Amino acid sequence: MLYLILCFILGFFSSSLLSLSSSLPPTHLCRPEQSSALLQFKSNLSLSISNCSQEVHIFSIHKMDSWDEDTDCCKWEGVMCDNRKGNVIGLDLNCSGISGSLQSNSSLFSLQNLRSLNLAGNCFRNSKIPSEFGKLRSLNYLNLSDTALTGFVPHEISLLSELVLLDLENIVLDRMSLSLVVPYSFLNLTVSLKHLSLAYWTRFSKGLPSSIGNLKHLKTLNLDSCVFIGSIPSALGNLTKITFLDISSNMFQGQIRDVFWNLNDLSFLDFSSNNFSGLFPSLAFNLTSLTFMDFSSNFLQGTLPNNISGLSYLRELHLYANLLNGRVLGRLFSLPSLKYLNLDFNKLNGPIDTIQEANLVQLVDLSKNEIQGKIPSSFFDLMILTILDLSSNNLSGNIKSCMLVKLKNLRSHNHSFNNLLSLTRCSNDVNSTLPMIIEFHFSSCNMQCFPSFLNASKSLQVLDLSNNQIHGSITKWEAEGWEGLDTLNLSMNFITTAEQIPGKHMFILDLRFNSLQGPLPPPPQALQIPSKIFNLSFLFVLDLSTNKLGRTIPYCFGTFSDQLSAVVLGTLNLNGNQLEGSIPPSLKNYHNLEVFYLGNNNINDTFPYWLGTLPHLQVLVLRSNRFHGEMQNFNGTFSFSSLQMIHLSRNGFTGHILPELFENLKSMKDILVDKSGPNYMGGNYYQDSVIITMKGLDFKLERILTSFTVIDFSSNHFKGSIAKEVGELNSLIVLNFSHNSLAGNILPSLGKMAALESLDLSSNKIQGKIPM
Ligand SMILES: *[C@@H]1O[C@H](CO)[C@@H](O)[C@H](O)[C@H]1NC(C)=O
Ligand SMILES: *[C@@H]1O[C@H](CO)[C@@H](O)[C@H](O)[C@H]1NC(C)=O
Ligand SMILES: *[C@@H]1O[C@H](CO)[C@@H](O)[C@H](O)[C@H]1NC(C)=O
Ligand SMILES: *[C@@H]1O[C@H](CO)[C@@H](O)[C@H](O)[C@H]1NC(C)=O
Ligand SMILES: *[C@@H]1O[C@H](CO)[C@@H](O)[C@H](O)[C@H]1NC(C)=O
Ligand SMILES: *[C@@H]1O[C@H](CO)[C@@H](O)[C@H](O)[C@H]1NC(C)=O
Ligand SMILES: *[C@@H]1O[C@H](CO)[C@@H](O)[C@H](O)[C@H]1NC(C)=O
Ligand SMILES: *[C@@H]1O[C@H](CO)[C@@H](O)[C@H](O)[C@H]1NC(C)=O
Ligand SMILES: *[C@@H]1O[C@H](CO)[C@@H](O)[C@H](O)[C@H]1NC(C)=O
Ligand SMILES: *[C@@H]1O[C@H](CO)[C@@H](O)[C@H](O)[C@H]1NC(C)=O
Ligand SMILES: *[C@@H]1O[C@H](CO)[C@@H](O)[C@H](O)[C@H]1NC(C)=O
Ligand SMILES: *[C@@H]1O[C@H](CO)[C@@H](O)[C@H](O)[C@H]1NC(C)=O
Repeated sequence: MLYLILCFILGFFSSSLLSLSSSLPPTHLCRPEQSSALLQFKSNLSLSISNCSQEVHIFSIHKMDSWDEDTDCCKWEGVMCDNRKGNVIGLDLNCSGISGSLQSNSSLFSLQNLRSLNLAGNCFRNSKIPSEFGKLRSLNYLNLSDTALTGFVPHEISLLSELVLLDLENIVLDRMSLSLVVPYSFLNLTVSLKHLSLAYWTRFSKGLPSSIGNLKHLKTLNLDSCVFIGSIPSALGNLTKITFLDISSNMFQGQIRDVFWNLNDLSFLDFSSNNFSGLFPSLAFNLTSLTFMDFSSNFLQGTLPNNISGLSYLRELHLYANLLNGRVLGRLFSLPSLKYLNLDFNKLNGPIDTIQEANLVQLVDLSKNEIQGKIPSSFFDLMILTILDLSSNNLSGNIKSCMLVKLKNLRSHNHSFNNLLSLTRCSNDVNSTLPMIIEFHFSSCNMQCFPSFLNASKSLQVLDLSNNQIHGSITKWEAEGWEGLDTLNLSMNFITTAEQIPGKHMFILDLRFNSLQGPLPPPPQALQIPSKIFNLSFLFVLDLSTNKLGRTIPYCFGTFSDQLSAVVLGTLNLNGNQLEGSIPPSLKNYHNLEVFYLGNNNINDTFPYWLGTLPHLQVLVLRSNRFHGEMQNFNGTFSFSSLQMIHLSRNGFTGHILPELFENLKSMKDILVDKSGPNYMGGNYYQDSVIITMKGLDFKLERILTSFTVIDFSSNHFKGSIAKEVGELNSLIVLNFSHNSLAGNILPSLGKMAALESLDLSSNKIQGKIPM
């Protein structure tokens, strides 16, 4: 406080000195009272933020560093003066690393001549938008986007009748404060604005005042993510000069009013992610200057209007996630400027129309609709197409490879989940392929044969053919080529043998749920045993679960020559086979192993304490085998410092649960706050899943949060009491010791496990009181 007062007095003296000096012959153009107002503005802020904003990682330029009283303020970075009078008329401090608060008495508001003010990308956290902005009557440019300012937009803004541009994006509610109010349980992480309760919206939001219609000169209005509710005021239709209108990510509701369709200069229109309902406003298609139109993520119904030929400048049309029905108009693909067409997640039906004239479309997403029938052959004339998604429809028929390869610019292709659709190779097209293709998804369709025509594409990285009707073996001939392939998903087919696995640098190989038989094939880099199948050098995920592989895991599993010591395998999934014997000790050479599933086999071994030395091991699943004996801590190898999930249930373990086991479980002790939102183990193409037992029932988690933690020792023969060290695991979420022979009291120290969401100690011999 004393400091503040002192600063105030000093500030008073310096500004009076400066005003004295203004009577001297001018050496500076800048007016002294404006110079001191700027310096005072600077002195109340700190310059520390290195990124422009939380979302966009553009580095900040610390423009205010150049501001000091000895130089002319008109020469300072970000300051613009009027050359005649020396008034400060422009302040561009976008992304200047500023943090601090913006109070209503800030000296900023004394700069009455300001015409342009850009404070975007700075951090005025916890400040309400001061209504004093309404004093800056000369403003024609005001950009407050991404400033972390909060509170309602003050109605005084509508006094700024000269405004040409108003950008308030993200102003009311930043994502961090949102994440604090969205309740989520670890089983359901669908976090989105749409799931916030009505009570939340009515408490934290407000309607857009119709006084916005006063801003008659506005050309650009950006209200993206300002959390407005209610209907849009018809006064918006008075903004007749407007060219850019973005009201996306609010909770505007009701029918979209007709008032907009007179705004003939509109070029950019974004109404996405709101609560609009009623019929799709077909008059939007009368706005012939539009280059960008987005109504996605609303509840709009009806069909697409037939007459769309006026939209000759439209480059992007986004209507996804609505309730639109009717056919996909062939005319859409003929719009002369259209590049991006997003109609996914609607109720579009019927077959796709014939395309009369194929134009410049690069991206077509029609996924998650009810589109039926064959894909018209004219569709394959869209030569420029680079991204095509037709997944999750009712398409049928057979795609011939010689048609498909006409789309020679295709980089990403997805036809998955059309269970009547197949793909066959034309006999006369020996050497043709999709030269640019990177991802090819044809999962859950009716494919009968391995699409070997793709083998000549050097850029193909991801091939997903899971859940089809591919029978028999993959021959050596079919597996040749595939130079760039790193992810191959052949799971849920009927493959019995693979003479050779396609690709040389495979990263993820998913063969679960097939009919592979015989002994477990040797793993990657088992160089002692030359193997056609696993002569792969970069395998990261090997999933052979739910096959009929039997016998023991080869003793040499994971042995390799020294120069190749970097075995990268991160996930090894052998769940649900018929493997016997013990876990080969050579597995400890898999230095990077993160996830090891061996559940539901017939392994007859003692606890593999030596896996505790693997520094990255996060998931260890040994459930439903024939493990037995006491857990022992030979040579203090119990480290398991990264372990987050350990499943030992349904085995024959005996003896005490060693307290040492819990001492080193570092990742069950640190509370992880995942600021970037939910992250899952695995990655884009392979998601680790796990079964956990709660209240005696098995739940399958299809995705595992990286912050999820489980100890499941249920259904064994453990005895003794529960060690007090368990209480130290303060980020443990699920603990199951049920169906053992544990005895003694429950220690109060267990109450320290603050993150615990499920605790099962049932069917033991535990006694006494349950501690408070
Ligand atoms: C801003 O800083 C000046 C000193 O430079 C001080 O007198 C004034 O009280 C501060 N204002 C706010 C709003 O903190
Ligand atoms: C800044 O951006 C970098 C990436 O460019 C990111 O790693 C870092 O987390 C960001 N920092 C903040 C504070 O957002
Ligand atoms: C506002 O400023 C930010 C940062 O400089 C910029 O990215 C954004 O485009 C500006 N808004 C408008 C509507 O020009
Ligand atoms: C933001 O500041 C940078 C650097 O001074 C400038 O080049 C850019 O034009 C500014 N952006 C806006 C939207 O004013
Ligand atoms: C400005 O307002 C803040 C908060 O109301 C107050 O703490 C500060 O002393 C004020 N500064 C001046 C110069 O009035
Ligand atoms: C998760 O939330 C979504 C959206 O609210 C809902 O549709 C889904 O049924 C929920 N899933 C579970 C397992 O509760
Ligand atoms: C969304 O709109 C419906 C009417 O279509 C309304 O009942 C509901 O309350 C609105 N939701 C919110 C969060 O405003
Ligand atoms: C909008 O225009 C109409 C008719 O031109 C007028 O009656 C109405 O008052 C205007 N509204 C605003 C908020 O300017
Ligand atoms: C919309 O455009 C169509 C054809 O271009 C025209 O017939 C119709 O009158 C227009 N509607 C309005 C309200 O301007
Ligand atoms: C296919 O390519 C091979 C090798 O490049 C060539 O020998 C053969 O003649 C080609 N076949 C046809 C039908 O073009
Ligand atoms: C496990 O293996 C041992 C021999 O190593 C054998 O005596 C025992 O019967 C086996 N147990 C089971 C359950 O197969
Ligand atoms: C313990 O370490 C010693 C010496 O390193 C080694 O000989 C012995 O085999 C180890 N015992 C176990 C059970 O791993």
